[in-house]
Amino acid sequence: MSDKPTFYITTPIYYPSDKLHIGHAYTTVAADTMSRYKKMRGFDTYFLTGSDEHGQKIQRRAAAAGKTPQEFVDEIILNFKELWRVLDIQYDDFIRTTDQRHMKVCQELFQQIYDQGDIYKSEYEGWYCTSCETFFTETQVGEEHICPDCGKPAELTKEESYFFRMSKYADRWMQFIEENPDFIRPESRRNEMINFVKQGLEDLCVSRTTFDWGIPVPFDSKHVIYVWFDALINYISALKSKEDGRLYEKFWPADVHLVGKDIIRFHTIIWPIMLMAAGLPLPKTVLGHGWVLQGDGGKMSKSKGNVVDPLVLCGKYGSDAIRYFLMREMAYGLDCNYSEEALALRINTDLANDYGNLLSRTTGMIDKFQGGVVLPPTGKTEFDEELIALAKETPARFAALMDHMEWANALAELWKLVNRANKYIDEAAPWALNKAGEKDKLAAVLYNMVEVIRLVTVMVAPVMPGLPARVWQQLGIREDHSLTSWDSLQWGGFPAGTKIDRGEPLFPRIDLDALDEIPQQPVEKADAQPAAVDDMEPIAPQCVIDDFAKLDLRVVKVLACNKVPKADKLLQFTLELGGETRTVLSGIAEYYSPEELVGKKLIVIANLAPRKIRGIESHGMLLSVERNGKLCVVEAPDMPTGSRVV
Ligand code: MSP
Repeated sequence: MSDKPTFYITTPIYYPSDKLHIGHAYTTVAADTMSRYKKMRGFDTYFLTGSDEHGQKIQRRAAAAGKTPQEFVDEIILNFKELWRVLDIQYDDFIRTTDQRHMKVCQELFQQIYDQGDIYKSEYEGWYCTSCETFFTETQVGEEHICPDCGKPAELTKEESYFFRMSKYADRWMQFIEENPDFIRPESRRNEMINFVKQGLEDLCVSRTTFDWGIPVPFDSKHVIYVWFDALINYISALKSKEDGRLYEKFWPADVHLVGKDIIRFHTIIWPIMLMAAGLPLPKTVLGHGWVLQGDGGKMSKSKGNVVDPLVLCGKYGSDAIRYFLMREMAYGLDCNYSEEALALRINTDLANDYGNLLSRTTGMIDKFQGGVVLPPTGKTEFDEELIALAKETPARFAALMDHMEWANALAELWKLVNRANKYIDEAAPWALNKAGEKDKLAAVLYNMVEVIRLVTVMVAPVMPGLPARVWQQLGIREDHSLTSWDSLQWGGFPAGTKIDRGEPLFPRIDLDALDEIPQQPVEKADAQPAAVDDMEPIAPQCVIDDFAKLDLRVVKVLACNKVPKADKLLQFTLELGGETRTVLSGIAEYYSPEELVGKKLIVIANLAPRKIRGIESHGMLLSVERNGKLCVVEAPDMPTGSRVV
C-alpha cells in the first residue's frame, strides 16, 4: 500500500435530464484541476463524478420523449461522457445511480437507518418542486405556490411516506459545525446554513409512492427512495463497490465535495446527518461555489433555456482556453458573468497577449540572436534580480491559493509573474543588447525568459493540461521529472544548450467583432495534442470467409463476475450460454468494475481451446473493442444467449 497522502474530490452527480452547460462544466473542470494539482503535489488522488438518474423529473422527461427512463438516461449519459472527454476531464470513476453497485449500498444504508429507528412511516402533505426535486412547506411556496429556489410552480403532494428523523440530530450537527469551521466553505454559506438550522430542523420525507423511477425501499416495494437521499450516497457507494471496499477504506472521508451554492443545503445538512445516523465519518469540506450567470445577470439553467453549450465553445476556442476562462473568471465564493465577448477578451488578454506573446517573443529572439539555442546565463543585468526573486516566490504563493481552492486568485498570482516577465523584456531590451554586442547579458536575459515560461507552464498545467506538451515542443524539451514536475520548480533548471523549435502562436488573437464567424472545429481536433494522437491499428492481411467461419461466436449472459485475487487486470466471469454455464477470464478489470457487467449480454469465442491462466481454466474469450487506451465490451443486449454471430 502506498504511503502517499490521499485526496478524494467529488463533483455533484448531474441530472441527465438534458445536456450539460458551462455552469456544470465549471464544477467538473475545477474538480479536475484540483485533482491534477494534488496529484502533481504527490497525493494519491481519487476523483469521482457521475449522474443522478432517478426521480420524478427524469421519469416525466423520459415519458415526454416517448422513451423508458433507462433508455432516456442511457442516451444522455453519452453526452456527459463526451463533454468530459473533450474538456480533458480525467475522472477515476463515473458513478450512475442506476448502477446495481450504487443501488445495493443505498438500500443497505436505508435499511440500517430504518432498523435503528431513525426512519419511520407517516404521511407527507406539502409542496414539491419536481424541477429541484425538493419538498417545501406552505409558507415557503407562498400564496402563488411557487418554488422559492427556481421560481417554477410547486405541486401539492399528499402521500404515505417514510421520514428520516433529522430533527433528532440538530444539536449534534450544530456542535459538529462549530468544531469544524472548515466544513462549510466559504464562510458566508456556513453562516447561512447555521441560521437555517437554528430556525428548526424538520424530519425529511425520504420516500415517494406516486411514481416508480427510483430505488425501491428494501422492506416496502410500494415506495421508492427520495432521489436526494439516493443521490448523496453516491459519494460512498462508488468507493464501497470497488476493490472489495479497499477504496472506501483508503479515501473516505472525502476531502472535498465541490457543489454549486443551490445544493449546499443538501450537502451540508442532510448528507452529514445521514452519515451521523449511519455512524460513518463526515467529509472534510463542502465548497459551495457561485453560479455562472448569463451576461444579463440571470442564472444559466437548463430549465430557463439560456444555456451555453461547452462543446460548441471547445470547438471554437479549444478546451484549454475554456478551462482557463472558467478557472480564472469565477472569484472564490462569488458568481461570474458569462458572455462570449468576455471569454474572447480573456483569451486575448491573458493567453494571447500575456502568455502567448512571452513565448513567441522569447523563441523569436532566441532564433534571431542566438541561432535557436538557449545559451547559459553567463552575464547579468540590473533587472534580473527582481524577476528571479518573484519567480522563486511564486510557487509557494500559487500553492497556498490552490490548496485553499482559490483558483482565480492562484491564476492571478501566476500571471503577475507572466506580466513581470513581459515588463522585464521591455526593460532589459534584448534587441539593444544584441545590437551593442553584449552577448553574455543577452544570453542571461533570454535564459531568464525561458525559465519563467517553464515555471509558469508547469504550474498552469492542471488548469490547461493540453498546453505543456505544445510548449515543451517549442522549447525543445520533453516531459521529465527534473524539468516539468512540481519538484522541478527551482530556478535555473532549464538545460542551457537546448535547441528550441519555434512554432505557431499557441493562442491566436480573436477578432472580437467577428465572433460569429469563428469556425467550429470538430471537437476531437480542438486541442490536438501529441498524447491524443489516434493511432488506428493497420488492417490485418486479407483472409477468406472460411477463416471467420472457424470461430464460433455466441451471445452469453454474465451470471457472476469477480476480480481475480492478485491479478490487477483479470476478471473471472461465470457465463450462461444456451443453458450451460462456463468460466471465462478476461483482462478488462482496469476498464470495468465486476458489478457493472453482471446481467449484461456479451459475445464470447465459444470454441476456443481452454487455457489455464493463474490456475483457473478459461473456456473462451470475450470480445471487446479497444482504441487509444479505451475499451468497451461488445454487447448484444436483445438476443437470447447461445445466438450465433454470423
Ligand atoms: N443531481 C443534483 C446533484 C446531486 S449531488 C448528490 C443536481 N444536479 S444538477 O444537474 O441540477 O446540478 C448539478 C450542479 O450544477 C449543481 O452543483 C449546480 O449548482 C450546478 N449548476 C447548475 N447551474 C449552474 C450554473 N449556472 N453555474 C454554476 N453551477 C451551476 O443538482
